[in-house]
Amino acid sequence: MQPSGFGEKRLAYDSETQGMVSSPKRTINSSVENTMNEHTAKLTVISRNPEETFLIGKIIGRNLTEKDVVALVGDLGTGKTCLTQGIARGLGVPDQYQITSPSFTLINEYQGRMMLYHFDLYRLSRASEMDDMGYEEYLFGQGVTVIEWADKLKGILPDDTLFIFMNYADENERKIIISGQNKKIAIILEELGNGGF
Ligand SMILES: Nc1ncnc2c1ncn2[C@@H]1O[C@H](COP(=O)(O)OP(=O)(O)O)[C@@H](O)[C@H]1O
Ligand SMILES: [Mg+2]
Repeated sequence: MQPSGFGEKRLAYDSETQGMVSSPKRTINSSVENTMNEHTAKLTVISRNPEETFLIGKIIGRNLTEKDVVALVGDLGTGKTCLTQGIARGLGVPDQYQITSPSFTLINEYQGRMMLYHFDLYRLSRASEMDDMGYEEYLFGQGVTVIEWADKLKGILPDDTLFIFMNYADENERKIIISGQNKKIAIILEELGNGGF
């Protein structure tokens, strides 16, 4: 693994507004672990706190385009919702909209520079529940779809889905593995190297 770059930009995360407000020093460590084939690459990022996970999400969100699907896979508490909050801000969902996991519905919708469909499938017991709600209209629609517990949807995700695997490394440390199209991974890597700007 080779370190790819470090940022020295100053930012802080305000959990009330879910926005970036002030400025402790930060650096995010990232590395390209390997290129899986000519179209797909994998990037490993260590997040040391929720603020970094949020920022990583924001970088991802900024670089999403229409019809993109982001599949989040990882245990409870690994930061899937935290990352989604960053993605939403990166997509331009205004700060006054709190991004929380949909609990009684499977999906929340937000308007950013395009629609964001946020699925949380934690309570999904049968894949057929997804059919009932017409998930295909979201997944193959015009907006961006982010899916927590996406491993429950194996087999129905589009080929170019951006997969993000969230793992515990330590109490406040998460190992985030991002896997997707070369081009997208390269942009995300570059922005991480610039400290998130
Ligand atoms: N590096 C980190 N990244 C994200 N969350 C972290 C990190 N370190 C600690 N946490 C804590 O872990 C929890 C993650 O919660 P959440 O985003 O809801 O996870 P999930 O949606 O995967 O269940 C929060 O309480 C957050 O404060
Ligand atoms: Mg969650």
